[in-house]
Amino acid sequence: MKTGLTYDTVALNEAGDALLIIDQTKLPNEEVILALKTQKEIHDAIYLLQVRGAPAIGVAAAYGVYLAAREMDTQDYDTFAKQFHDAAAYLNSARPTAVNLSWALRRMEDVVAEAKNCSVAKIKELLKKEAEEIQEEDINICRMIGEYGLTLIKKGDGLLTHCNAGQLATSRYGTATAPMYLAHEKGYGIHVFADETRPLLQGARLTAYELNKAGIDVTLICDNMASMVMRQGKVQAVFVGCDRVAMNGDAANKIGTSQVAILAKHYGIPFYVCAPSSTIDENLTDGSQIPIEERPGEEICSMWYEKRMTPEGVKTYNPAFDVTDHTLISAIITENGIARAPYETSLRKMLEGKKGHKMQAE
Ligand code: MRU
Repeated sequence: MKTGLTYDTVALNEAGDALLIIDQTKLPNEEVILALKTQKEIHDAIYLLQVRGAPAIGVAAAYGVYLAAREMDTQDYDTFAKQFHDAAAYLNSARPTAVNLSWALRRMEDVVAEAKNCSVAKIKELLKKEAEEIQEEDINICRMIGEYGLTLIKKGDGLLTHCNAGQLATSRYGTATAPMYLAHEKGYGIHVFADETRPLLQGARLTAYELNKAGIDVTLICDNMASMVMRQGKVQAVFVGCDRVAMNGDAANKIGTSQVAILAKHYGIPFYVCAPSSTIDENLTDGSQIPIEERPGEEICSMWYEKRMTPEGVKTYNPAFDVTDHTLISAIITENGIARAPYETSLRKMLEGKKGHKMQAE
């Protein structure tokens, strides 16, 4: 499956001492690769959305905590394990909603816990391997989501997506975009509407850029135009990503996703959530338990505008995610198949398909 991007969203550099990311706050105008070494640099890059998207921040955190381990100057297992736990907790505090962050860090912590009898040098080696595995799995997972998602697309379909659940949000292919890349490759003649995605414009800056680079027919619309294009019969299916799915199928994704789902239901358009099984949180029964990140009001008052667009001192509310009710979701596409209602049963099956690693959200 081909995408148009020539660089990795997240990678370890060749020397193995820095995390390389494409700075997504600079896209689409500048393609700047950052080499991050310190824990503060990595934490802040996640918080500031220089690296973003649930799977990508999981991979970044896994490499990030490996880099922390690399610098730990002790041969004593207990001291190392304590320092490692503190480093993982620090990275985990960067963003609350995407469960992939705590999931990936938990996997790294499990490596340390299971290697009690190994030397610290050996544990560092195992940690590097685990981070590489998390990334490799992410690539395969996205490929499988693409294959399953493709079965839901017909030739000539108009597809709508919200935010960026593309290659830039993962290690490769994306989740919601993977079926689009495949459909394009197979000559389906699809066209995609990308919601701009206020306030941080992931749709305008990232999805439009990424799909355009791949030669996919993409049209940017403002978030409040989705109803219009749906009413005009231009959208046959909606594909979105997600940051955390509760066991009843309620799914958190970028703010504005739930209103797209409500519109899709109104117009009788299928609404699909693409979810690696690492975003299914088996500890949560429904979406009301998903922690929703709140970000500074500055993002909705002045960021991206040439000048401030609201009076100084006005109150703001800036939730970064919302929860789409499971009743609005036609299907949840995972790497293990397509889950449909009742989700309690079908998501359980999807999780059984996942080998070994138990989800443990914080
Ligand atoms: O705040 P962001 O840009 O990290 O939000 C990203 C999203 O909401 C994505 O849709 C989600 O993480 C899925 S990415 C495959």
